[in-house]
Amino acid sequence: MTIKRSLLSVPLRLSTWLLVFLLSMGTQAFAVNPDVSDSEEAIAAGKSIFNANCRTCHRLDQKNIGPALRGVSDRHSIEWNKSFIRNSQALIASGDPEAVAIYNEFNQLAMPSHEFLSDEDVMNLLSYIEYGDKADPAAAAATGGEGGQVGVDGGIPSEYLTIILSVLVVVLLLILVVLGLIISILTKYLSNQNLDEVDAEYVNQKFDFKKILRSDAFVIIITTLVVAFVAKSGIDQLYTIGVQQGYAPAQPIAFSHQLHAGQYEMECQYCHTGVEIGKSANIPSANICMNCHAHIQNVGGKEGISPEIQKIYNAVDNNQPIEWVRIHNLPDLAYFNHSQHVAVGGLECQTCHGPIEEMEVVYQHSSLTMGWCIDCHRQTEIKSQGNEYYDKLVQLHSESKNALKVKDIGGLECAKCHY
Ligand code: HEC
Ligand code: HEC
Ligand code: HEC
Ligand code: HEC
Ligand code: HEC
Ligand code: HEC
Repeated sequence: MTIKRSLLSVPLRLSTWLLVFLLSMGTQAFAVNPDVSDSEEAIAAGKSIFNANCRTCHRLDQKNIGPALRGVSDRHSIEWNKSFIRNSQALIASGDPEAVAIYNEFNQLAMPSHEFLSDEDVMNLLSYIEYGDKADPAAAAATGGEGGQVGVDGGIPSEYLTIILSVLVVVLLLILVVLGLIISILTKYLSNQNLDEVDAEYVNQKFDFKKILRSDAFVIIITTLVVAFVAKSGIDQLYTIGVQQGYAPAQPIAFSHQLHAGQYEMECQYCHTGVEIGKSANIPSANICMNCHAHIQNVGGKEGISPEIQKIYNAVDNNQPIEWVRIHNLPDLAYFNHSQHVAVGGLECQTCHGPIEEMEVVYQHSSLTMGWCIDCHRQTEIKSQGNEYYDKLVQLHSESKNALKVKDIGGLECAKCHY
């Protein structure tokens, strides 16, 4: 008995040690240079500089286009960080071994210079890098750590819906089977009783298919169904004239949102600069691509320049815009404004454009019909919190006890959408 127990205790203890070891790996803290301040103001100031200048390429705890930055004040001296952040190319050219090593590790991808940052800016940046947005290790593990993606919209993901539906179907089938069993047991039981003639006929009746097929009711039902189906698909067909849902033309450069917006988590606004400030979202010019592709010439750091990237260079050299094929296109008679929906309405791009960050080639996700606009305006509540413009309206409206929807501020008026 005792032997058995001690035998069991070995793997038990081993696994506890392993668990503790793994946990400590996950939460392992970097030593932080004591010169880096952990004051709230410094962290907040650093965060806004970081988001404006560094976030396109860096995350704190994950490798992105550049290395994960937390712990950088431990890996290098403060002076080194200052010169690298301000002008990494100069430091690399001077032959600094730390700078050359990291440069080579990242396929000689040059980080842009930030000469405009003051000493204080850089110190604030380091405060944010070391102390800001500390990742919750449990949450990081749940999203799969590196490259983990969190779903965009709340609600029930469609896979779950399918599962729920199939479970429902199985349950229904089971109920059918049980009912069938009960019927057959009852029939058996009843036919063993002494029944009068009418009851006996009722219990022993057989399902007469031919009779049903020949009945008038059946013929009428089937004809109605067929006619309704043909009419419905005909009308649907008419409604889809001019609707380009699913349209996914080939583009002149094999640009992938899945890679840029998905894998590298680039902000949509970095390229589509107009979404929060104007009517149009804008398609980026080749110069925006060149911020990175002046140096990134190939996927996976292969030798030579990829032909797709060469097309960007040709466009810049010849001063010729890249001729992207337009996908979403409302007719001229309709007016749609992005900032109204994104900045004021607080809607996610994905609500209208679908899972862009998973698209290798962009396709039109929504129908873009008038009915689509109107449906959403009928259903969607106004984000009125923190928007003084709406305070009065909300107050007036609250008497009617219904939520304030887009339709209530004129979202169904013809002239709001038609010139
Ligand atoms: C266009 C992409 C890009 C931007 C923007 C960028 N970096 Fe970098 N950064 C890199 C790359 C790539 C490296 C790896 C070294 C190399 O290839 O030069 C790097 C390396 C670093 C390093 C060295 C890290 C280490 O572990 O040794 C620091 C520090 C750093 N960046 C800070 C910043 C800060 C701060 C900003 C914003 C002010 C910034 N970077 C903006 C791409 C970028
Ligand atoms: C690196 C730059 C870049 C980023 C980041 C980016 N896009 Fe794009 N986007 C483009 C380019 C270039 C095109 C035109 C080529 C194409 O359709 O793929 C485009 C096209 C689109 C289109 C179709 C435009 C049309 O012709 O109707 C939509 C919609 C779109 N992007 C949405 C998004 C969303 C949403 C995000 C963020 C999740 C995003 N984009 C991130 C560069 C970018
Ligand atoms: C913030 C940096 C950044 C910007 C801006 C950017 N890209 Fe990229 N792009 C990358 C990275 C990183 C890769 C993948 C490199 C790798 O995996 O080795 C890449 C890969 C690509 C590839 C695949 C190259 C190949 O060899 O197959 C194409 C094509 C591309 N980008 C086009 C564009 C276009 C067009 C734009 C402008 C609309 C753009 N990129 C803007 C960072 C960027
Ligand atoms: C309420 C729905 C809705 C939302 C939210 C939305 N869009 Fe659009 N988007 C549209 C419609 C409609 C068009 C077609 C506009 C036209 O043809 O005038 C469009 C067109 C575009 C285009 C093509 C170029 C242009 O400006 O017409 C791009 C790029 C784009 N959207 C990107 C985005 C990005 C990025 C976001 C999120 C920041 C976003 N959209 C949010 C509905 C939406
Ligand atoms: C996913 C939901 C959604 C869709 C789809 C949508 N909208 Fe909207 N729309 C909103 C919201 C939310 C607002 C309110 C923004 C605010 O708070 O002012 C709004 C406001 C507007 C307004 C201003 C109304 C007013 O009285 O101030 C116009 C105009 C408009 N949308 C046009 C359109 C057009 C045209 C389409 C279709 C091409 C469209 N919208 C599709 C959600 C949507
Ligand atoms: C929320 C925005 C919105 C409102 C409000 C709206 N429309 Fe529209 N309407 C559209 C859009 C977008 C289209 C283009 C749809 C398409 O291309 O399939 C359209 C198309 C139309 C067309 C078809 C034109 C054609 O050539 O096919 C007519 C007619 C029309 N609208 C009339 C009206 C009238 C009348 C009202 C007021 C009762 C109204 N609309 C209110 C957005 C709106």
